[in-house]
Amino acid sequence: MENKEKILEKIAEEIRECKKCPLWRNRKNAVPGEGNPDTVVMFIGEAPGRFEDLEGRPFVGAAGKLLTELLRNIGLTREEVYITNVVKCRPPGNRDPARDEIDKCSPYLDRQIEVIKPKVIVTLGRHSTLYLLGKTGRKHGKGILSLRGRLYTIHINRNPVTILPTLHPAAALYNPRLKTILEKDFDKLKEILKSISKPKKGLDAFF
Ligand code: URA
Ligand code: SF4
Repeated sequence: MENKEKILEKIAEEIRECKKCPLWRNRKNAVPGEGNPDTVVMFIGEAPGRFEDLEGRPFVGAAGKLLTELLRNIGLTREEVYITNVVKCRPPGNRDPARDEIDKCSPYLDRQIEVIKPKVIVTLGRHSTLYLLGKTGRKHGKGILSLRGRLYTIHINRNPVTILPTLHPAAALYNPRLKTILEKDFDKLKEILKSISKPKKGLDAFF
């Protein structure tokens, strides 16, 4: 068996050469994602922005700074988790990714999740939330404010994975009320991660 890191690098190479949707035409760099292949928690954003496109790394602009701060507040570093996006190339002018672009690109994310096998996935914003909640097999409303801060379960290869949707950090940059909501959801994540390290109590306590 190849190790996780090698498989993730192979996926990243495919992404860097990918031309499956039109977004490849304007990219400087694709942004496959980065972090710890053995993490229990993944963070999934929407798509790269300008700075991510320039650097080929996720969440390195202003929203990324806030994400790094939110992680630090609950005792996590970027290096110990895995951070990526649903769409791996930057949509022009940072527009929302189109349905077709998400359909073409999301198999890469699915493969990354299958390799990493996280226990928890935090979805940042509406696009990654709706994409992952699509795997519950149930219909969900579309408003991120009504979906966030609750726990959902999906199954990846029969293993349960807890989804915790929250807001996109970019939305909270100039809005203290939304920042407070993000902080609250990250506090919830901290509690979930504590319960995972105490297997007896388990995630059941949260449902
Ligand atoms: N916004 C995202 O959704 N992803 C990034 O990587 C950066 C900003
Ligand atoms: Fe390929 Fe995804 Fe980039 Fe489109 S956004 S070209 S599907 S890697």
